[in-house]
Amino acid sequence: MTVHSKLMVANWKMHGSLAANASLLADVLAGMADVLCRSAVCVPSVYLAQVQALLSGSSIGLGAQDVSAQASGAYTGEVSADMLRDFGVRYCIVGHSERRQNHAESDVLVATKAQRTLAAGITPIVCVGESLQERQAGQTEAVVKRQLAAVIHANGHCISEIVVAYEPVWAIGTGLTATPEQAQQVHAVLRAQLQAATAHADRVSILYGGSMNATNAVELLSQPDVDGGLIGGASLRAEDFLPMLKAASR
Ligand code: 13P
Repeated sequence: MTVHSKLMVANWKMHGSLAANASLLADVLAGMADVLCRSAVCVPSVYLAQVQALLSGSSIGLGAQDVSAQASGAYTGEVSADMLRDFGVRYCIVGHSERRQNHAESDVLVATKAQRTLAAGITPIVCVGESLQERQAGQTEAVVKRQLAAVIHANGHCISEIVVAYEPVWAIGTGLTATPEQAQQVHAVLRAQLQAATAHADRVSILYGGSMNATNAVELLSQPDVDGGLIGGASLRAEDFLPMLKAASR
C-alpha cells in the first residue's frame, strides 16, 4: 500500500500521430470530471512538445518511454533526461521489457537510466518482470528481485522517489493477465524488498502492467499492493482508458 492515490499510466509505445494524439487526448480530457487518481501518458519523444501543450492546465502528467543513460555528448539518436525535463516531463519509463529484449538493456544500464531521470527531477517508472519460461521454471521472484536490486543499489536513499511497474512479459500485449493473486504475490515481494532498502517504501507506487483493461482493472486494483497500472493497448482509446481511470478513483 502506498500513501499516495492510485497512479494510472498510459504507455502509448510506438503508436500515434499528430492527429490521433489530439483526438485521443481531447476525448480523455473531456471525461476527466470524476477522475481522482493520478494519471500520466508516456508518449513517443517526438510528440512531447505537442502533448505538453495539449495537457497544459490538466491533471494528467507528461511521460516519456525511455531516456539515455548518458548525460550529453556524442550519442546519436539519444535523448537525455535534461532534454525531457525541458518539455515538462514528470515520468519516464525505464527498463521496459521491450527495451530489455529488443535493445539488450542490462539491469545495470536500467539502473543508470533511473539515476539520470532522478537527477533531472523526473520520476522513473522502473519496469520489472519475468518471461513465461522464467515463471515456468519457478524463477519469478528471483528475476524481479534481481532487476529491482540493481536499481536500489545504484540509487540509494533516492529509491523512495521511484515508481515500480511489475509487468510479466508473458502478459504484455497477449490478452493474458496475471490473476489478481499472482500480481499481489509479486507486488508484496517487491514491497518487502523496498522496505528493506528505505524507511519510506510506502511512498513508492507499484503498478501492474500486462493486458490490463477496463474489465480486469477493478479486481487488480483492489489488491493491497497494486497501486495503479501501466497500460499499453487499452490506453489508446478513451472509451477503454477512462473507465480504468475511474476504477482507480474509487
Ligand atoms: P498491454 O497493456 O498492451 O499488454 O501493454 C502493457 C505494457 O507493456 C505497458 O507498458
